[in-house]
Amino acid sequence: MSVIYGKYKQTLNDIANELSTRLEIHNNNIYDKTGYKLFEHISSRVKSEESMIEKCERKGVPANYESALGLMRDAIGIRIVSTFIDDIQTNIDYIKNMPDVTVVKEKDYIKHAKPNGYRSYHLILDVEWDEEDFRGNTPGHYFVEVQLRTIAMDSWAALEHQLKYKKDVPNHELIESELKRVADEINSCDLSMKTIRNLIRGSI
Ligand code: GTP
Ligand code: MG
Repeated sequence: MSVIYGKYKQTLNDIANELSTRLEIHNNNIYDKTGYKLFEHISSRVKSEESMIEKCERKGVPANYESALGLMRDAIGIRIVSTFIDDIQTNIDYIKNMPDVTVVKEKDYIKHAKPNGYRSYHLILDVEWDEEDFRGNTPGHYFVEVQLRTIAMDSWAALEHQLKYKKDVPNHELIESELKRVADEINSCDLSMKTIRNLIRGSI
């Protein structure tokens, strides 16, 4: 049996659930007020202990809870998928203002897409939590990785993730360059969708 989170495992699940519930409630409140959703859906997960152990080994650090909760920062992951590209910034602003949440790192893979075409906005949060953390501090501090993307970016990432595991296929280079081309096309679709949305809402 793989155990790396030790006695902190339940807290990781609790934080993942609590944060996504808070974001969902906010989304519903905005929808009730305006008729628009800030995101289409949200998902959260605690990285499996097997994957966390594998990641620690890959990074050459001891496979223990200090590494998993202190060095790895993505034991808790939240993905916020919005319909429109500019809603991403609205969601980022909301997260930055959440009580007990501090943003400790930001990666803008939308402005600066990865060479393979991957786009998303990543935040690493430091979340203050009533219970003890791996350092023995109470209230505790836990890291959370948040990925913000559009539906289109999300579908590209899901497809690319599947193909990553099939490196032995013929035409590997062609597949990579086609994926990059599709990522760029998807990005221009996201920008056009925003324009159409603004036309419909009468804001341009
Ligand atoms: P890790 O060591 O994997 O955590 O990478 P990192 O610390 O450099 O973080 P990065 O922000 O690059 O990636 C974190 C997460 O974003 C990954 O675990 C994936 O879920 C997602 N991600 C990053 N790059 C890609 C990509 O090229 N394709 C897909 N499908 N997902 C990606
Ligand atoms: Mg990661």
